[in-house]
Order: sequence, then structure tokens, then C-alpha cells
Amino acid sequence: MKPPKAENRSGFETRAIHSGEENPYPYRAVTPPMVFSSTYRFESIGAMLETMQDSRRGIYYSRRHHPTGLDAEARLARMEGCGEAALFASGMAAITTTVLSRVQAGDHVAVFKDIYGGAVNFFANVLPRYGVDVTWVDTNDYAGLEEALRPETKAIYFESPTNPMLKIVDLERMAEIGQRHGAALIFDNTLATPYLQRPLDWGLDGVVYSATKYLCGHSDMIMGAATGGAEWMAKVHDTRYIYGGVVDPHSAWLLSRSLTTLAMRMERHCDNAEQIAAYLARHPRVERVYFPGSAARSRSELAQRDLAQRQMKRHGAMISFEVAGGGDFADRVVERLKLIALGVSLGGIESLIVEPRYATHRRMAREQREALGIGEGMLRLSVGLESADDLVADLEQALGA
Ligand SMILES: Cc1ncc(COP(=O)(O)O)c(C=O)c1O
Repeated sequence: MKPPKAENRSGFETRAIHSGEENPYPYRAVTPPMVFSSTYRFESIGAMLETMQDSRRGIYYSRRHHPTGLDAEARLARMEGCGEAALFASGMAAITTTVLSRVQAGDHVAVFKDIYGGAVNFFANVLPRYGVDVTWVDTNDYAGLEEALRPETKAIYFESPTNPMLKIVDLERMAEIGQRHGAALIFDNTLATPYLQRPLDWGLDGVVYSATKYLCGHSDMIMGAATGGAEWMAKVHDTRYIYGGVVDPHSAWLLSRSLTTLAMRMERHCDNAEQIAAYLARHPRVERVYFPGSAARSRSELAQRDLAQRQMKRHGAMISFEVAGGGDFADRVVERLKLIALGVSLGGIESLIVEPRYATHRRMAREQREALGIGEGMLRLSVGLESADDLVADLEQALGA
């Protein structure tokens, strides 16, 4: 296989466009081929055995690797600035496969409490059934985390910014703690994407994505991704081959296409989010705005802002806000919106809004939600790529004067 075209030292946008697996593509095409074959023919037994030896790139059966998947994986790895990437049929497949590639019965993992609900379910209800002990730690309680770690702790799992509170976790500090205790750091970078944040550069071991969100970016696919160094990813690839949650060629091709515009989309997502967060902060019926780029009102908020500034290129495009008047008023706002759609998920071209109490956190008792800071009047907005003025006008008519 020829080396990928763009070197890591070239710019992010260049790598996104020119980092395909082959150079040139067959038929001198400028875009990658979409290869649907489930299996591949060989000239000789020797050639087949040699290909099967290559667990990282060998193309002999599409559950292991297929050309279209390898192309998208090479592109994503270059954007992340790391050795390897693996694509999955969903973000949950990426999370479960990556974690299961690291742990076995008798091991222990520590998890920060503010993580995606599906991952909560996996760590709380599935892993313990396989003899893996799980300790939940308050997000950003670094002393509590150190206390929770044991010799058999194999992994620490967390995300930043978190959903829906948009807390920022110190990646460098987490890497230092993990390295000192010999525990691998697995990190969900879905909300930031490799354009805004490169966790492996801070010393983390493995990254996972719901590629369904910004990486694919158009709310038309379910997909996951994992990235990391070559040694780390060899285990992830082997585990993916066993559990079988590989991405299909058509989706992988669509991801390659989406990745080429990730930088431009993220810039516009962030521009829009900044304008909307500033508008919401001024609105008399909005009690509080959670956005990593908002002006700090306390020392702890200032520390969070500084951290976001240090480890993220911009602040992302998720905004949570609490309206005065609680749940009834929040319901009214959502139902009055005309342009911003009521819907779960995030990271697509269109703006979406949801009340966490009806979606990600619906299985929690009100008191549990409130302990996490999620009030009844909280709304979570995924800011899309529409004209920001139109989004503000829609919020204005829904919130009322
Ligand atoms: C932060 C985060 N991680 C992981 C997932 C799971 O991804 P998927 O729905 O693609 O399986 C989601 C889904 O909403 C998410 O928001």
C-alpha cells in the first residue's frame, strides 16, 4: 500500500481533503472508490495467507477491513494526528469495543459521572455482569478520582465538554493521573471533534466518537470511530473483528466526504453558537447559560473558561440554558419554536433543541438530575449552520419579550 499523500505537518483542512489511503485512486479518480465486496480473491494461497497476517490493513473479508473504510480511517487518523483510526456501525459500538479491548474479569474502571447516557448504561449495567468493577467519580473531582484508583484499575473513561452541562475536564491533568497509576485514559471527543480538540496530543491513550454527530455532520448516518496509537488500535481492530460492529462501505464513503468539510462546518457552527449564547445571556427570561465561551461569573467558571481556552481551538456549538419559569415554560418555548426542531442528537447542519429531562436524562429521578445541575427548565441546543439571525429571531419569538 502506498503511503497517504498528506503529511501530518500540513494544515488540518489539507489533511482532511488529501489524506485518503491510496494515491492515486483507481481510474485516476479524485475521490475514493466505494467498494461493496464482502470478500476478495487471491492469486495464490501464499498471497492470501500474507494478507491475512496483516491485521491492520489486510483486505480479505470486509468485517476485518474494506478499502472504503480504510480510506476514511486514514483520513480521520491524519486529522487526529495519530497512528490509526477504526470506524464502527455506531458511536456505542466504538465505545463498547474500545473499552472491551482493554478490560477483563477482575479489572476495575473509573468513570466520571457526566458522560453520555448510553455509555452510563454500559458501565452501570453491562460491564459489571462480566466481572469488571466500576467506580463513579464526580466529574472534575481529581482527588476523588485518585482515591478511586486501584492496582487493578485498567481504564478511566470521561468526556469533555460534557453533555448537557458543558463542563470542561483538564486533559493534561487526567493524562498525568492515568500515567502515574498505570490506567489507560479513554476519552469521548464527540462534542469537540478533532478540529477543536486533539486529546491524544495531551497524552490520552484512546479516543472515541459518535461520528453520527459532527464528523458525519448531516443527521443522515449512525456511525462511530476510535482513534489512537498503532499499538492501542491493534487491540481495537482485533476486538472489532470479534464483536463485528464494523462500518459499512457506503457509510464510510459518506464519512470521507463529510470529513473534507469538517473544519469549515465547525467554524460556522462555532460562529453561530457564539452569537446565540451572547443573545441568550442578555435575555430576561433566561436564568443561566452553559456555554464554554460565555463570560465567567465566578472563579470556578473562570478556571473552566481558561481550561477551554487552553485545550480547545474554539468553544464548540452546544449551548444549554435554564429558563425562568421551570419546566412548563421550557415546554412552551420548545413548542413555539418554528425553525429550531425538537429532536434528540446533535452536531448536524440543522439546529436541534431538547429538554434533557425528556431525552438523555429521562430515566433519572428529578433529584438525581438536579444533583447533576440539570434543572426542570433546562434546554439543550445544538446550534446548526442556518443564518444566525434567523435562529435568534426564532428564539426571540419563542421566548417572548
Ligand atoms: C457524546 C456522545 N457519545 C456517544 C454517543 C453514542 O453514539 P451513537 O448514537 O452514534 O451510538 C452519543 C449519542 O448521542 C453522544 O452524544
